[in-house]
Amino acid sequence: MSNYKFINDKGTFKLKSPENNSYMYFPLANEVGVMSSITPTLNGDCKMDQNTFLLAPVSGEDLHNNKSSRNFWVYVDGIGAWSATGVSAIQQAEVFSEDKEETELEAGVMWHKITRKSKKFGIKSEITSFVPATDEKIELMKVTITNISNKPKKITPTVAIPLYCRSADNLRDHRHVTSLLNRIETTEYGVIVNPTLTFDERGHKRNTVVYGVVASTGNGEKPIGFCPIVEEYIGEGGSFEIPKSVLLNEKFEIQKGAQREGYEAIGAIRFEDTVIEANAANTYIVAIGFGASKGDFDNAAINELNETAFDKCLEETTAYWERKINISYKTKDKQFDNWMHWVNFQPILRRIYGCSFLPHHDYGKGGRGWRDLWQDCLALLAMDPSNVRKMLLDNFGGVRIDGTNATIIGKKQGEFIADRNNIVRVWMDHGAWPFLTTKLYIEQTGDIDFLLEKQSYFKDLQVGRGTQKDNLWDLSQGNKVRTQNSEEYKGTILEHLLVQHLTAFYDVGEHNNLRLHGADWNDGLDMADEKGESVAFSSLYGGNLQDIAELLRYLKDVKKVKNIELAEELQVLLTDNVKVYDIVEEKQNILKSYCDKCKHDVKGKISSISCDELIADIEGKAKWIKEHIQKNEWITNKEGYSWYNGYYDNNARRVEGDTELGTRMMLTGQVFTIMSKTAAETQVESIIKSADNYLYDKAVGGYRLNTNFNEVKSDLGRMFGFAYGHKENGAVFSHMAIMYANALYQRGFAKEGFKAIDTIYSHCNNFEVSRIYPGIPEYINEKGRGMYHYLTGSASWLILTVVSEMFGVKGQMGNLVFVPKILLQQFDEENKVAIEINFAERMLNIVYINESKKEYGDYSVKEIYINGEEYKFNGQPAINRNLITSLDENIRHTIEIVLK
Ligand code: G1P
Repeated sequence: MSNYKFINDKGTFKLKSPENNSYMYFPLANEVGVMSSITPTLNGDCKMDQNTFLLAPVSGEDLHNNKSSRNFWVYVDGIGAWSATGVSAIQQAEVFSEDKEETELEAGVMWHKITRKSKKFGIKSEITSFVPATDEKIELMKVTITNISNKPKKITPTVAIPLYCRSADNLRDHRHVTSLLNRIETTEYGVIVNPTLTFDERGHKRNTVVYGVVASTGNGEKPIGFCPIVEEYIGEGGSFEIPKSVLLNEKFEIQKGAQREGYEAIGAIRFEDTVIEANAANTYIVAIGFGASKGDFDNAAINELNETAFDKCLEETTAYWERKINISYKTKDKQFDNWMHWVNFQPILRRIYGCSFLPHHDYGKGGRGWRDLWQDCLALLAMDPSNVRKMLLDNFGGVRIDGTNATIIGKKQGEFIADRNNIVRVWMDHGAWPFLTTKLYIEQTGDIDFLLEKQSYFKDLQVGRGTQKDNLWDLSQGNKVRTQNSEEYKGTILEHLLVQHLTAFYDVGEHNNLRLHGADWNDGLDMADEKGESVAFSSLYGGNLQDIAELLRYLKDVKKVKNIELAEELQVLLTDNVKVYDIVEEKQNILKSYCDKCKHDVKGKISSISCDELIADIEGKAKWIKEHIQKNEWITNKEGYSWYNGYYDNNARRVEGDTELGTRMMLTGQVFTIMSKTAAETQVESIIKSADNYLYDKAVGGYRLNTNFNEVKSDLGRMFGFAYGHKENGAVFSHMAIMYANALYQRGFAKEGFKAIDTIYSHCNNFEVSRIYPGIPEYINEKGRGMYHYLTGSASWLILTVVSEMFGVKGQMGNLVFVPKILLQQFDEENKVAIEINFAERMLNIVYINESKKEYGDYSVKEIYINGEEYKFNGQPAINRNLITSLDENIRHTIEIVLK
């Protein structure tokens, strides 16, 4: 099996025989809601949301099991029927034989082209698929059939795309009854389906979506007949792989304007027989999609169904996505640079698909979770910072005044939905992520005033950090916290951050670490709600508190802010005696007293605290957490390895270390103790040794999430029910592995950080084992296969790590600083590496020049040139923001940085 080959520097690649790999899918989508997945045989699906599937929803297993794919048949006179997508019983049966057809995939961002050659039939098909980056809700397909024999061939072409047209729920729930809702009509160009009602969890409602398939020849000729009912198309005893009407080349009798009701539908569209001369080709254009009326399909037919329009639209679509992906890298490893192009694209995909809607992601109903919302902003900050301020501000509206947050996130930015199902689940890590994103935003832009912007708090039934209900509240009072005078209460962003961190500080378990609640980052640690503790995230909250103090210091020193205004209720979290920090019960009481005060509303009174006092208070808390963890959680096992324990289980027992069932070590606790600087430098060294010994496995891409616990540890979480080496139970889970790299780089361990990234990249790039298209998957399973490709928070973290740690291109209160941590082996033949990136709305090509071939640690930045002119800096290598914003915004600027 061959690897894919990149054919340019924009990630475009070619892959031979792609269908000889299972479970592969590729995303095609646009920003008005069309979300498709497509496989090498054009299987996959196409939908707008959970209730609006045009093609039947597919999970991983359906990718080989489902016959209901996008198909295009060619009946060759004198030989028989051939599927241009390879989905016929005969072609499938030949896949492992010498008669296997020659196939090749060529794909780039949001387009997919598969070529298939049949010696037996003497024809070749080339099918290009994409979803236009316009406001049209369609997926387009161009099919070119070439006669590769030396004799003319008479062919009968047939489009055959089964139309599901309903909610994903109906796959099992009322699959048949919902077909009775179908109202099917043939038009000049195709088949449309307008179900009367929708049946799903929302109840029975009038349906407003029209689904359809329209097609024409490349020069706009209409079809000559249709066969829109599945059972007539396949014939008695037939199937989508052996459709009788095609195999026997039966005439499609139905003409435009016909109506049918109550059956499963198919866009089976017949074109006139044509003779293709030797080496000549015929082209067909197909559009599948969603409309508000039949007219939308007529318009699509007029606008899109010709080859010129198709080619133009494809070109515009490609250019559109290229504009969006505005970061690029040049290192010695060109393959890595190209692979990163796909990683750059992944956060965009996650914004479109949420965490659902690609075949492996067969859960959820679209949308993203709280954690993902914030982390996806990390990449946006690097790629499209223009709307980020508003986005961050809106997102803070999801914070509850008890420091937890809304978990049902609406479609519109800043829309959070009250939990009416009464499900209480608190993820204890949630409060820590918004700060990381906010800090990055402030550093990139210098917009420290953002901390003083005001935003409301989210309100629903849940109070007391998931422990109580506010029975005085109902939805009619709205989703915002009010004052006792019923006015909407707004606090600063700084106050929101403090609420999140201070409540967490007091929310401790028996060992005085932060309680695990329903889980932390690891969704699979969900069975220790009563006594579980997450030391891992305690350390992150601690590190954040320290960083909040730093920002406050900046507000005070540079912005001359003397006092901070906070809701009076917060005082109890600030003005206590530090001795109580050691007493679990006291802490819990303080938290309770705060939560009780804001259970239903707040007084609306503001109290003022001096910056100095506030800084001292939160620094005290940060220090306390750090020392507490250092003192109690550093473990050394009998083999002499040391690392930080990250968890306590529901029996309040320490999780990591030696046990009768083997050594237990988890990566998460290491990542955040390193990142938060809880781990001292020598401890980082010990952790690296332990992680290399217990967690590193090159065969599966590097650092595993945990060792094998050899136990279904039901007092900690469902992850232990998963087979070891899969998903949250000990797979190389990209997100945490990349955060480990990030933490190591942050602490100056560049070689070790590089190792974590390089192992995962090299593994993914080794197609023979990873069997995924370029990009980073959510995790790598025990066999080495990349799983849950594309939609993963690790992409954002990887971009962030490569840009701001590896290349060391960082914002520092709005100025651009350079702290390169590039290893000598990464510099190219000309001793250079480069990164092209947008900073302060200017496109910058930043080139590091290492002529003396020094290794990281030995070099430092000696000279900086902006567009060829030397820029003098004092001390830290940095360029003042004002200078960058004075540069012309319409051109790309080159910044050369000489290392010596
Ligand atoms: C997924 C979720 C993420 C969660 C993680 C671990 O990771 O999206 O919120 O923290 O699993 O349970 P991702 O797919 O983002 O890599």
